Amino acid sequence: MKIHLCDSREEATRSAAALVYQQVAAKPCSVLGWATGGTMDALYSELVLLQQQRPLYWRELVSFNLDEYVGLSTDHPKSYRFYMRHRVFIPLGINEDCTHLLRGDVSDLDDACMAYERAIAEAGGIDFQLLGIGENGHIGFNEPGSSMDSRTRFTRLTLQTIEANQRFFAPGEFQPHTALTMGIKTILEARQIVMLALGAKKSAAVAAMVEGPLSELCPASALQMHPATTLVLDPDAAQSLTQQNNHRRAHPIKDLKA
Ligand code: PGA
Repeated sequence: MKIHLCDSREEATRSAAALVYQQVAAKPCSVLGWATGGTMDALYSELVLLQQQRPLYWRELVSFNLDEYVGLSTDHPKSYRFYMRHRVFIPLGINEDCTHLLRGDVSDLDDACMAYERAIAEAGGIDFQLLGIGENGHIGFNEPGSSMDSRTRFTRLTLQTIEANQRFFAPGEFQPHTALTMGIKTILEARQIVMLALGAKKSAAVAAMVEGPLSELCPASALQMHPATTLVLDPDAAQSLTQQNNHRRAHPIKDLKA
């Protein structure tokens, strides 16, 4: 795992956005794995800014999203498809025919998950997977206890995840407690993985992922087995790592705005 410790939240966000930009600049027909959530908001805003300053051609890009809530229609404002369309696909000029998101509103969820795995394989696998991390160490919606061998599937969210995501829902609004997610094995098959973690609330999960044992109790620790993962951290997310001096500046990322 390459660990990039940044001096600020802004630098970490810019660095992770730069890695996505560089991937697409180097290979416009990349197969990209997108993530969602509060951390990705900042990253996607940076990416859109970069695109305005140094436009790239995004229409050859093929993409797969990590996860989707069950029970929300694709045009529901809290669905991840809605999130992606408005924050990423439309602003970057991405061809939506080449985007894939799990459908949490179909009758046969298992079939949808199997079809998703097939579609990833038919696209030649994922070149570059973006990830956030949950406060409980989840990646995608692979909650603690998820098998390292897991594939795309239906899953129940833990109370901790439901509470962490409550901020995205208005009081009294329906909040899904179940989801579809790429599995840990599916994620580990991506050729390159970039994780962005920001804020003190992520520090325990980050320390468990990097310095803890490989354990299903911390699904993100599976990344210890991946040969090409870059972890981009702000100081707060990194605060519980005991080996910070070894990580600092070990893997500089070019700042495209500098
Ligand atoms: P967050 O979610 O960015 O909203 O904290 C990250 C995740 O759960 O993967």
